[in-house]
Amino acid sequence: MQKLLVVFFLFFSVFVFSQDVNITNGWKFRAGDSSSWSSPKYNDNDWSPIKVGSVWETQGYANYDGFGWYRLHVVIPSSIKEKAFLKEKIRFDLGMIDDGDEFYLNGLFIGRNAGKNTDVKQGEYDVQRSYLVSINDPRILWDKENVIAVRVYDHGGDGGMYAGKYGISMMDIVDYIRINTTNDFEFSDTKHVSKKIILESTSDKYDFSGRLQIIVEDPAAHTEVFKQLISADFAKAKPFGYTFKANLPDNKSYTVSYSFQESRTNKAISASEGIPYILTPKAAVSPKINGANVYGVRPNAPFLYKIPATGEKPMNYDAIGLPAGLKVDKQTGVITGMVTAKGNYKVKFSAKNKSGIATKNFTIICGDVIGLTPALGWNSWNCWGLSVSDEKVKASAKAMVEKLADHGWNYINIDDGWEAEKRNDNGEIVPNKKFPDMRSLCDYLHGLGLKMGIYSSPGPKTCGGYLGSYQHEEQDAKTYGDWGIDYLKYDWCSYGDIAPKQPSLHDYKKPYKVMRDALNKVNRDILFSFCQYGMGDVWKWGAEVGGNSWRTTGDINDSWGSLSGIGFSQDVPAPYAQPGHFNDPDMLVVGKVGWGPSLHNTKLSPDEQYTHISLWCLLSAPLLIGCDMSQLDDFTLNLLTNDEVLAIDQDALGKSARKIFDKENIQVWTKDLQDGKKAIGIFNLNDKSAKATISFSELKLPAQLMLRDLWRQQNIGSFKNTFSAAIPAHGVILLKGNPATAK
Ligand code: GAL
Repeated sequence: MQKLLVVFFLFFSVFVFSQDVNITNGWKFRAGDSSSWSSPKYNDNDWSPIKVGSVWETQGYANYDGFGWYRLHVVIPSSIKEKAFLKEKIRFDLGMIDDGDEFYLNGLFIGRNAGKNTDVKQGEYDVQRSYLVSINDPRILWDKENVIAVRVYDHGGDGGMYAGKYGISMMDIVDYIRINTTNDFEFSDTKHVSKKIILESTSDKYDFSGRLQIIVEDPAAHTEVFKQLISADFAKAKPFGYTFKANLPDNKSYTVSYSFQESRTNKAISASEGIPYILTPKAAVSPKINGANVYGVRPNAPFLYKIPATGEKPMNYDAIGLPAGLKVDKQTGVITGMVTAKGNYKVKFSAKNKSGIATKNFTIICGDVIGLTPALGWNSWNCWGLSVSDEKVKASAKAMVEKLADHGWNYINIDDGWEAEKRNDNGEIVPNKKFPDMRSLCDYLHGLGLKMGIYSSPGPKTCGGYLGSYQHEEQDAKTYGDWGIDYLKYDWCSYGDIAPKQPSLHDYKKPYKVMRDALNKVNRDILFSFCQYGMGDVWKWGAEVGGNSWRTTGDINDSWGSLSGIGFSQDVPAPYAQPGHFNDPDMLVVGKVGWGPSLHNTKLSPDEQYTHISLWCLLSAPLLIGCDMSQLDDFTLNLLTNDEVLAIDQDALGKSARKIFDKENIQVWTKDLQDGKKAIGIFNLNDKSAKATISFSELKLPAQLMLRDLWRQQNIGSFKNTFSAAIPAHGVILLKGNPATAK
């Protein structure tokens, strides 16, 4: 058969999407795998209807991993060819698929997303599946019923055709245009912004001319604060770049939209994005001690804690009342040693520089529970994926020490991709060439006052196909202890092949108990992070099995669908959060992310990122930064260094916020704090800016509240009965309410 060109490519998310044939409805599904399911002759009458755009777990296939097929019968009218300016190719948009897929049209193979190999089990879950086919391709049946069959493989956690864009459309001339918005916004001060936009052509055949319109809008007031229309000509070899400069009246949320109208067809392509705005005030030069006010350690385990203090360096640190066995380095603020006797030790920290002195009361609890407040750190996965290396880890550590450690950040965690292909002759796990010496890497991090985390699976293989700990659990725990590891993320992955097909509660717990016992034999405080995507309602038994945290969901990505789907569904596990044992809604997706060697700016808008950090702090979630920290921009730093916001996450009461209001896409989550006050997050899940009014009595809050805006670190006044605020699309206002001072 003649080979026809099929291209699989990714559309940048900000583009407006047009479709000629709607394929969002009418899909059918069957779990399992059979080659006959691609055939148009196959009778799928008894298959179950399924929605695309959400995972199959929520549609009657809870905990199902493995193969599943989606089928859709659809007529493709030839009129769409006639309407199009270009009559060359047709595009099938099949959304995002978790994890790999093959696409068949009328029983004939069109293409697959299967990673490096042709193995559908290696597919990448977070990319839009868009397949291009020539209009003369005999696999398309014009004006007749076509059968689209999608074979999906899910290796664990959520599965299916879960998000993105669905449609069949003619590839038209504007599809060759890209509005490249990847340059960063530049600020001369908070009110003057500029950015270079580039119009690009991906076509060798066509040159373009038309008009580019740029509008900056205040979405709350519905007013345009900037508008410009520019003539633009460009071709593949000659992109058109334009730098716009706008004045922003206030330090708040604005959106900018770009639209290019092509002169031949008058068709337009558009994109829009939020403009970053920084709310976190700069840290003062005088000392301030940040971080939690409590720390857990087990008797006789090596102790490492760096007093986190902002303010001009050099700084002199002290800790009065340390238990026997601990000492503080007065130049670095790093406390080391070992506590032998169980007990609660009240300590007074101080940090002094030429502008002043700060003190803070701190409790060291020597007992059985560690990780009393959620971990604050970095993990390699959301940026580097399997391309993590010793060099990249060290660069992250350096950035953490320079920019974040003063705010309490301290874990540097290596995710999948560090393991060698084979164990050594003694059966011990060894790192691959990218990590020349794990022990010296641990020593290096510890020397900086940081801690080091590692990743494995209870199965024979990790999710990335590297060696897991199956049948080597004690040996691996010992190796981690010898290296100096402080954190273990333990990911179910191929343990799915070991566990029974329909695991019982006992089966879910088993591999985590085995590793728990192994870690207990090691004389180090190693935080134990369960990663099994919430199976068997892990939040109900994670603490009892000895987990310090447990993932409650499948993998996150940097889209609003993923972030909001995960974040706002955390009320179910919320009651189970407690000191030493926390729900983990997955790692942070702010900054430059990529899950592999090439990175991009997070696709979340600035307001979505404020929502992300605010919600995760309210939930008492471990905060694991997932971006390249050697490229931290000012906006991302502002998200990660607000000590009043981080204090909500690190509150020693260890409770999770609960959702107490949910109407018209406005949600209110409140969290009880150790000092008797409440953290209150008011979220706008609408696509437009909205005014939210909360009634204190409806939310069972005290009738009068003194409120503080935590991102701005400003008191906003005393309110009686109600509070209202305009909240940007997908944005938040994060407050601390103090009933005691309300007058
Ligand atoms: C996934 C896990 C991710 C990452 C990845 C590594 O299952 O949820 O967070 O660890 O495996 O292969």
